Amino acid sequence: MEKIIIFDTTLRDGEQSPGASLTKQGKLEVAYQLAKLGADVIEAGFPISSPGDFDSVKLVAQNVKGPVICGLARCMKKDIEAARDCLKYAKKRRIHVFLATSKIHMKYKLKKPEEEVIRLAVEGVSYARRFFDNVEFSPEDASRSEREFLYRVIEEVILSGATTINIPDTVGYAIPDEFGGLIRSIKDNVPNINKAVISVHCHNDLGLAVANSLAAVKNGAGQVECTVNGIGERAGNASLEEIVMAISVRKDLFDFSTGINKKEISKSSRLVSKLTGIPVQPNKAIVGQNAFSHESGIHQDGVLKKSITYEIMRPQDVGFSGSNLVMGKHSGRHAFRERLKALGFSLKEAELDKAFERFKALADKKKEVFDEDLAAIVEEELALIPEMYHLEDFRVTSGTNIKPSASVRLKKEKRILEAVSEGDGPVDACYKAIDKIAGIKGRLIDYSIRSVTSGKDALGEVSIRIEVGKSQTSGRGASTDIIEASIKAYLNAINKIVKL
Ligand code: KIV
Ligand code: ZN
Repeated sequence: MEKIIIFDTTLRDGEQSPGASLTKQGKLEVAYQLAKLGADVIEAGFPISSPGDFDSVKLVAQNVKGPVICGLARCMKKDIEAARDCLKYAKKRRIHVFLATSKIHMKYKLKKPEEEVIRLAVEGVSYARRFFDNVEFSPEDASRSEREFLYRVIEEVILSGATTINIPDTVGYAIPDEFGGLIRSIKDNVPNINKAVISVHCHNDLGLAVANSLAAVKNGAGQVECTVNGIGERAGNASLEEIVMAISVRKDLFDFSTGINKKEISKSSRLVSKLTGIPVQPNKAIVGQNAFSHESGIHQDGVLKKSITYEIMRPQDVGFSGSNLVMGKHSGRHAFRERLKALGFSLKEAELDKAFERFKALADKKKEVFDEDLAAIVEEELALIPEMYHLEDFRVTSGTNIKPSASVRLKKEKRILEAVSEGDGPVDACYKAIDKIAGIKGRLIDYSIRSVTSGKDALGEVSIRIEVGKSQTSGRGASTDIIEASIKAYLNAINKIVKL
């Protein structure tokens, strides 16, 4: 069975999602998780694009063992040198150079004729080969490029030493039959193509990124580029979990395997969502909250009789716990630790103490504590952001005919700071009070709330995006009290910014 190389670009194309921004520590955390997930290649960033990106690619290269660590570069010396300088720390490294080859991009963006584009591509790949054995080349907007020109570019860059040729559907324009045909035609028309691996990189503008990637695999692609939760530029990239599970569930059609540890899928999805601040839509395939829920009576009846009636895979296959109700207020520390272990969390003693305290407080308010509740509180406790401001307590007044107001007390190191404010609503009043304490002016860009489980006593999880000065960041907080969850999310975001 041929192994398909999974090239994860969550930290590069994924981070280009509108609204996503990860701290360096956050990127490192995601990279560790991608290594656990079994990604073969991690594209850690675009080093020349900013000093922050350079540092995070370097951090990942220095620390993450297992996968090949890759950095993106244009066909320019300064880009290639920046990638060289931060990737030199990686045990296994790759550079990914790209240059547009479609008529539209060459005419309007590059303003360069075909011959010049071929020369730049060849020079870029040759220069990259001075520092890297492993060089990937992408003819950007390949799916809209003239076929004959595309074949020529590919042949030339392979002659110059490219070891992987990535075919991007940059604007998500392709249709599966057509895209599969493109890969087949490259195999048939580029004389030296067997000297390189063919890769594909599909965007989801028409909702076809996964279908196009699978069509490419069937037609000879040996690598797929994808992201966790399908995040990425505009409508996103092909989703890693959907590609991996399609290949696995439909073994009868795909004689391929991947090295992905499927049981790490749901954890990876939660982590990426938490750290980027991009929620996963409930009906998202594989990792959405409803992906394994059966609402209709007929379906429930069928699943109870035999799960295969309506389930093509089991939630446990992708790392969701099989059990439902787990713990209550009488559960002890030992049971708590064991349950967390089963959910894939291994906590240090101090972290376990804090998480157990949170669990007890939650169990006091909520009779039944579910695995999802446990995951939410543990992930919050494990957040790598040191807490500059910590919520001590708050009080809000709100009603139909009164102006909402809030009084908030925060702890900063050993000091207790307090402020009172009015607002448009109780959350706004709390945020304004926090702004007074922290001496900042936060602008709320995005706010969403979801219940972690069902029931009136469910934990509410708030995800926000805020802007303070020129910095934008996300925050998340969970509580059975949605005002408290909102405050925690705001503090989580502010703690990231004041740390920057
Ligand atoms: O979508 C695209 O074309 C890209 C390239 C840099 C591969 O992201
Ligand atoms: Zn892309």
